[in-house]
This record gives sequence, structure tokens and C-alpha cells, in this order.
Amino acid sequence: MSNIKDFKRWFLEEYDSSAWQLGASRFIGIERELYGWSACGLMHLLNTALSFMDEGEEYLEVGTYGGRSLVAALKDNDNRAQVIDPFPGDDGEDMFQIWSRVVDEHKIRDRVTFHREFCEKFAGEMT
Ligand SMILES: C[S@@+](CC[C@H](N)C(=O)[O-])C[C@H]1O[C@@H](n2cnc3c(N)ncnc32)[C@H](O)[C@@H]1O
Repeated sequence: MSNIKDFKRWFLEEYDSSAWQLGASRFIGIERELYGWSACGLMHLLNTALSFMDEGEEYLEVGTYGGRSLVAALKDNDNRAQVIDPFPGDDGEDMFQIWSRVVDEHKIRDRVTFHREFCEKFAGEMT
């Protein structure tokens, strides 16, 4: 991201301002609707960070769970994402099905490349 300085400036100027609150409020519906960990402020931060990415860069999400942060990151833009999550454990398959439905319902499937594996393995495959 060559615009990292602009992103930092935006963050320092806006964080906790009324503009920030307004921006974060765009994500209330996503926070209520989708399983995940990210609160509205973090989703606003993430979504805005993507707007500073260079052309051709993709957002990398390690751990996507119910798709909340992913949907927030890709909201109102045309960015693409690489997503890594093995969905392990007894309820992993159920959560994967939920995530998959969310990706379809939010019409971002064609912008997401999904890797069902642990990030450590994924990183190992890249070296
Ligand atoms: C905290 S949740 C992710 C929340 C999501 N980013 C959000 O904010 O809505 C953690 C996710 O990380 C995944 N995970 C755990 N260890 C991982 C690993 N080593 N590589 C990739 N994903 C992992 C889990 O399966 C789970 O879905």
C-alpha cells in the first residue's frame, strides 16, 4: 500500500471524531446481522483502509468466521480479497456453510478467493 501515509493521516485526524462515529454507524446492520468479532469502529477502519490500497492489491483476511469483517471490508467498493480459514472443529462445517451463504447473500463471491486451510500451511506453500 503506497498510500499508507495518507491512511495514517486519515486515521489520526478522524479517529473518535463525529465523522468517525458517522462512518462507523454504516456498519450497525452488519454487526447485528453477521457472526463475527469486529465492532462497527473496526469495520469502518478496515473498510477505509481498503480505499487506500493500490490498484491490483487484494485484502488478505486470516480468520473469517461468519464473514462479518469480510463483508465490511468489501462494502461499497470493488476490491478483491484472499481469505484463509480452515473452519476446524466440530462446528467448523456448520460455520463454513454459514460463511458461504453470507458471501452469496452479500454478492461478493466473485471477489473472494477462499483457501480452506491454516494460514501457517498457506504461508509455507508460498515460500
Ligand atoms: C476471531 S474469528 C475471526 C473473526 C472475523 N475476522 C471477524 O472479525 O468477524 C477467528 C477465525 O480464525 C480462524 N483461525 C484460527 N486459527 C487459524 C489459522 N491458524 N489460520 C487461519 N484461520 C484461523 C478460526 O477458524 C475462526 O474462524
